[in-house]
Amino acid sequence: MKPATTGPVPDRPDALTAQVLDSLRGEDERLRELIAGIVTHLHAFVRETRPTEAEWLRAMDFLVRTGHACTDRRNEFILLADMLGLTSAVDEVNHVGPPTMTPSSVEGPFHSPAPPRPMGAWIAEGPERARGEAAVVHGRVTDCDGRPVPGAVLDIWQADDTGLYDSQDDEQPEGNLRALLTTGDDGSYWFRTVRPSSYPVPTDGPVGELLRALGRHPMRPAHIHLRVEADGHRPLTTHLFAAGDPYLDSDAAFAVKDALVAPFRPCADAGKRARFAMEGPFLEAGFDIRLVAEGETR
Ligand code: BEZ
Ligand code: FE
Repeated sequence: MKPATTGPVPDRPDALTAQVLDSLRGEDERLRELIAGIVTHLHAFVRETRPTEAEWLRAMDFLVRTGHACTDRRNEFILLADMLGLTSAVDEVNHVGPPTMTPSSVEGPFHSPAPPRPMGAWIAEGPERARGEAAVVHGRVTDCDGRPVPGAVLDIWQADDTGLYDSQDDEQPEGNLRALLTTGDDGSYWFRTVRPSSYPVPTDGPVGELLRALGRHPMRPAHIHLRVEADGHRPLTTHLFAAGDPYLDSDAAFAVKDALVAPFRPCADAGKRARFAMEGPFLEAGFDIRLVAEGETR
């Protein structure tokens, strides 16, 4: 497609931008700042790319359809922000801290209330338990200096071995592959599950259309979501990504960070098998979590 016009852009757009910025009023200073930023960048975008009126209307139609695709259980706008890396950008500017902290990562659309479970619980209670590869995930929750954090609550959720969450699959009981675990004195945690697999984000709406038009795949690398809360520490929402996954370098949600990637290794150690009460072969993934103390200024 050709841009609307060629040749030099007249002076008017700059004056127009200034006029719009000058019109911003109201008590809320932060709102004015945010809208001024959007106006400035979008006006610059228009001057730079010169959309035709037909292209502009097509964009408006896309946004309207994105809104119409939203329901109580699906937010197509959040998905759009995820697929454009905007959610990860917002995450990045909001979670700075010491270099030893566990990095945060996007929440995604599949969080729902998890059942409290005892430490070491099997969280795979659906058909995936017989079908998938058994795995033990374990680690310690500490502060950024390695001191254990007792009483930390881990909210864990993951898709099954075919890439489906309980909310997408009638075969899985509600609360499947979800857990709330509370750490003891040494900050340690562990649970038994099946290895997650990579899966596509929903592609049956306008965002799927956009991904196809842009020649992009919809896949997310295999992961487990964790949200960790502990008194005196900043809450952390993050992922554990499975090392070796073919989509680690091209996550559709741009949410992978190196420090969040851990291997699921086959474990043949009889002592560990007994300690984790595993009957057959299993994979082991270690994932320590370092929280930032409230008031931390590093
Ligand atoms: C997820 O991990 O569940 C997810 C994250 C971003 C977009 C879609 C799905
Ligand atoms: Fe997910």
